[in-house]
Amino acid sequence: MKNILRILFIALLGNADVTAGEVPLDSLNLANVRQGWGNAASNKSVGGKPLTIGGQKFERGIGTHAVSVMYLRLQGQGQRFTASVGVDDEVAGQPASVEFQVIGDDKVLWESGLMKAGTPPRKVSVELGGVKTLVLVVEDGEDGIASDHADWADARVAMLGESRPEVIAMPVEEAVILTPKPGLAPCLHGPKIYGCRPGHPFFYRVPCTGERPLSYSAQGLPAGLKLDSQTGIITGTTPERGEYAVKLQAQNRHGKSERRFKLVAGDKLALTPPMGFNDWYAYLDHVTDAKMRYAADTMIANGMVDAGYQYVNVDDCWMGKRSADGNLAGNEKFPDMKGLADYIHSQGLKAGLYTSPGPKTCAGYEGSYQHEAQDARRFAEWGFDFLKYDWCSYRSIAPNAPELADYQKPYRQMGDLLAHQDRDIVFNLCQYGMGDVWKWGAAVGGHAWRTSDDLGIELNRVFQVALKNCGLRDYHKPGEWNDPDYIQIGWFNNTKAPFTPSESYSFMALWCLMAAPLFYSGDMERLDEFTLSILCNPEVIEVDQDPLGQCARVVDKHRFTFVLVKDLEDGSKAVGLCNSGEVAADVAAQWKDLGVTGPQMVRDLWQEKDLGEFTGHFSRRIPRHGVVLVRLNAKETGKRP
Ligand code: GLA
Repeated sequence: MKNILRILFIALLGNADVTAGEVPLDSLNLANVRQGWGNAASNKSVGGKPLTIGGQKFERGIGTHAVSVMYLRLQGQGQRFTASVGVDDEVAGQPASVEFQVIGDDKVLWESGLMKAGTPPRKVSVELGGVKTLVLVVEDGEDGIASDHADWADARVAMLGESRPEVIAMPVEEAVILTPKPGLAPCLHGPKIYGCRPGHPFFYRVPCTGERPLSYSAQGLPAGLKLDSQTGIITGTTPERGEYAVKLQAQNRHGKSERRFKLVAGDKLALTPPMGFNDWYAYLDHVTDAKMRYAADTMIANGMVDAGYQYVNVDDCWMGKRSADGNLAGNEKFPDMKGLADYIHSQGLKAGLYTSPGPKTCAGYEGSYQHEAQDARRFAEWGFDFLKYDWCSYRSIAPNAPELADYQKPYRQMGDLLAHQDRDIVFNLCQYGMGDVWKWGAAVGGHAWRTSDDLGIELNRVFQVALKNCGLRDYHKPGEWNDPDYIQIGWFNNTKAPFTPSESYSFMALWCLMAAPLFYSGDMERLDEFTLSILCNPEVIEVDQDPLGQCARVVDKHRFTFVLVKDLEDGSKAVGLCNSGEVAADVAAQWKDLGVTGPQMVRDLWQEKDLGEFTGHFSRRIPRHGVVLVRLNAKETGKRP
């Protein structure tokens, strides 16, 4: 009643004379504040010190850490939000940089702009009108969240009557599966171009969805290769140097599918980004031989292999001790490395392995230092088809201030050794981007190279890493891939990845727009339907595997929104409308930025559905941390690639 009278009073007289109750936000329960490090603190910094910004001390307020999000339920009762914001002086001299945002019901009401350690506090005072939900955000300043200690000093909301704001949990997004299940009729997938080396063992399992049994056939398969019509596995010996135009076919009682598959026998491998499973984030050091076999079986049973995933890669922690003659064997969790590779091959899949050029791997197991040739030979004898070579303790071997040649040395050595084995071994450089590896990774024999540190499970870095990789697109081409690290949606090491459904879709969409190697590194024992539907959408994977091998370019970049466009082999374009911000935003792809003219058929790839013909631009409201992925085609409509 009291509130109603007050509202009437304001409506009649204006609010100038009414002093609403000011609620200091530090008096609220802050348990629901989400932030990148530590916990939100009342009346002290996130590091536990008195709140201080640019030399000015504040008695009250909230100390937090980017990226931080606080949802306040106001129910239309808030009048004004006031605060003084900035980076806390406790990180003076460190590379802290943040940006504060005040958002009311999905509209940005105030932005601080970039603030660094030492920047004087900025005052906020915004009228709230009838805002129901106020969101206070601290974004990182696009250089990672390290040292981003940020204060909402003196933060208050003037409320009507006795009402009080409440810090609520971020609204939960519903996990909606957008992609239809594969049909009963056969549909062939997988790369349209495939590199292999003459005279080496050849094996390839043809990816195809549709009801089993399927009967496979191929036209134009060169002599020396044989396709098993029941399993769809091609085996034999790679023919002599040349290009072989093969037409693959699959048939069942519901229909028939055809797909071109060009074999390029020559020097190059991985002509499309390699796809598979790597155990690292899923199992860390508790990986076992049994878990790897289970991963291979599961990839077949759950349809990942039908969608194109091929490699089953063991990461760190498999190594035992060397024997007196220096030969390396697996440890007690990997009693039979050759047996493991044979098992993976028996399913038509490829096997991958990990080691370090240093004396020890990152997890402290035996590395290959001074055993490089012996190890390369052994990996090939066991039958491995992929090697990840991780710098790690090589730091202790390299000079203190390594020069380019020092960065290259161990990789050139192993690249050369692998190229001389009697099998195709894809070489994955893992040294976190040092010495601009993208400029020389291919020259030392690499097929893919990590462009940054471990991704960890941090969503904001997903957008950042994508933008960084897109900046390196000139170094990215068939057989030479920038590697932004593994896909981590689903479960990891007994923890559910903290991604919302939109974020999970964004992860995969960004990776495919980049033409990134697609390695799923989540727990295969806990793969749910939703995660699987994201991993296995064939039209999205087709964008990744496009034979042109282009990484998307960034057009129309704003602070939190941008558009990615990738040219595809058939003349169509894959376009991502991206929003890395904390609230929904409108994003438009303009034809002039995409390099297209005239009417375009726009197809939503997650839904595998035509959205209709558009002219001039295509726009959508993109949810928080969302990406809408479409394909624009001027010529054909609604055709599955
Ligand atoms: C490094 C790599 C990771 C993983 C671990 C294993 O951190 O970057 O991808 O291989 O080592 O110890």
